[in-house]
Parts: sequence; C-alpha cells; structure tokens
Amino acid sequence: MGIYVWGTGCGAGDLAEQGLASDRITAFVDNAPTVSEFLGRPVIVPEELDVRDVELMVVASRHSLSIRDRCLALGIESERLLFLKNHYVLKNLNENESLAEELLGTELVSRIRQRCHVIRAPMGCADEVLERKDLENDYVRVKTLEMICRRLRDIPGAAAELGVYRGAFARCINMLLPDRTLYLFDSFAGFEDQEIRKEKERGTCGDGFVAAHRNTAVEQVLSWMPHRERIRVCPGFFPESLNGLEERFCLVSLDVDFEESTYEGLKYFWPRMNPGGIILLHDYNSPTLSGVRRAVARYERDFGVHLPGVPLCDINGTLVLVR
Ligand SMILES: C[S@@+](CC[C@H](N)C(=O)[O-])C[C@H]1O[C@@H](n2cnc3c(N)ncnc32)[C@H](O)[C@@H]1O
Repeated sequence: MGIYVWGTGCGAGDLAEQGLASDRITAFVDNAPTVSEFLGRPVIVPEELDVRDVELMVVASRHSLSIRDRCLALGIESERLLFLKNHYVLKNLNENESLAEELLGTELVSRIRQRCHVIRAPMGCADEVLERKDLENDYVRVKTLEMICRRLRDIPGAAAELGVYRGAFARCINMLLPDRTLYLFDSFAGFEDQEIRKEKERGTCGDGFVAAHRNTAVEQVLSWMPHRERIRVCPGFFPESLNGLEERFCLVSLDVDFEESTYEGLKYFWPRMNPGGIILLHDYNSPTLSGVRRAVARYERDFGVHLPGVPLCDINGTLVLVR
C-alpha cells in the first residue's frame, strides 16, 4: 500500500517543498496526463488505480469536489483522502486527518492545514456556520468578511447588522469580531407593509419573498451567536428602532433589500463610521433588488457625496464602502 497524489500541476509539484519527498509517493494520478512520469514517479490515469493499494490519496488539485466524488465512487473512503486545496467550497473537506497524520507526520499535515486556511478555508468560522446552506455557497461573501475583520483590528467602534433575518451573517460577524459589541437591527417579523407595497409596484419582490422573511425569531437568532454577551438586539422597524442610539462603528452589514430602508441605513451609519470602517452593502448588484442601487444614487445626490465603493463578485453583488 502506498501514498498517491492526485494531480500533476503546481499543487503537486509544491508538495516536495512542503516536505513530502517524491520517493514516498507511489504514483501521481491525473485524468488527462501530459507526461508519463513526474518528479521521478509514474503518472497513471484513475482507471489504472488499484484502490486496495491506496493507503492515502493526497488531492493536490483545485477540483477537489469532483475528485472526491470520483474517489468515493472508486471505493476510496473519505478517511483515506487528504485535500490540499478547497478552491470552490468553504467547508474544509478534510473530515479526518488522523490517518494522514500517521502517515505523513503531524508537522507536514499541520503545515498543509495552515496553508489551506490562509488561502481558502474560512478562518475563525467554525464549520457549523457554513452548514447553513445560504452562506455555504457564497464563498466570496464570507471570505471577504473574514479578511476585512482582520483589517479592522486597529479600527475602533462597534459592529452592526441592519437586516438580520435568521442571523447567518450576523453569526459570522460575531465570531470574527468577538470583542466588539454587535447591534442587530431587524423587525424580526419581515418587511414593513408600506415598503412592501412600493417595492411590489416596482416589481422588485413577490409574495413568497415577503412571506419567507417573516419566518424568524429573536430567540432563535440569539441561540446561534457564539458571543451572545456582545449582542444588543434592536427589534422593530429601522430607523425608529434606533431609539436615539448614538454610537460609532467599525463594521456594518447593511442588508435590508429595499430602497427606503437601505437609504435610511446609509443616512444613519455612513456619518457614524470611524475612519477606515467598512459598510458591506449587500445586494448592490442584485439583478432583482434594484432598490438598493437606487438608494445609493439617491443618497449621493441628496448629500452631494460620492460613496467610495468596491463591488464584490459574491452572489448578490455586495458593495464594500470604505470610510
Ligand atoms: C435579506 S434579509 C437579511 C439576511 C441576513 N443579513 C443574512 O445575510 O443572513 C433582510 C432582512 O431585513 C429586514 N428588514 C428590512 N427592512 C427593515 C427595516 N426597515 N427595519 C428592520 N428590519 C428590516 C427584514 O425583516 C429581513 O429580515
């Protein structure tokens, strides 16, 4: 039995530098090999694999998910797989690293883990967060939040989310900024009736969308927060729910979907951001929720300012506003 490496690209080549000498590798596996030998070892196609001989398969390709499916179909169980790269998924695919540690040594495996974490896996976000399907497939959104939170360490101020719903994103903020107060603004009962009417007239929302957002509860949201002592719940419709709150912020997630509430959010939060602070304006480039973009244009017009924003290519096109 031996160690196999799936891939013959940079990831596989880099393994030697990471400390896995090629004489420890039985063979490299490649779907469409361009060479018959790599680093002095044979290169085979998956059909040539004798799965009984695979003690460990190190997957050194970014196509982790399809290779995992292929390996499982061939009869190589997940315990015998070690993934170096998780390019398209948030979740760490390495379910059990004990066999890899036994074979490769804890130092090498921990180096690999570190490397995956820095580049891909969501540091600081426990896997349970990502089991929430709504965020699991929005890698760019969560990973950007993580990197932003690292940059915010020297910026004073509280964090806030306006538009919490079930708290999936709020939970990430709470996890990544454990020492900051996190204000949660939401009606926890869906959108405001008059605003629904306006948006419906514009064709930017339907009944199902409205009904789904009523489906949440403060207690459920709170039970999910890892640092509950930092949470200040502000229930009710914004801006009335502010109740005169005066605060400075380092990070705000503004995610209320509709024009009027987005505009009110910008009016309150933008002047209260500390220098270097960031507003994550969700849905700015949404193909359906066009009220968000209108709110930004209206704010810029009304206050004669330009909001300096960097658009993200996450699922609904967040705009990152840096104060
Ligand atoms: C898209 S959801 C938020 C999703 C959440 N940020 C996440 O990523 O998991 C929008 C939320 O904004 C809330 N909302 C919209 N307008 C509001 C307002 N004016 N005041 C309070 N909550 C509002 C709705 O109740 C809904 O829960």
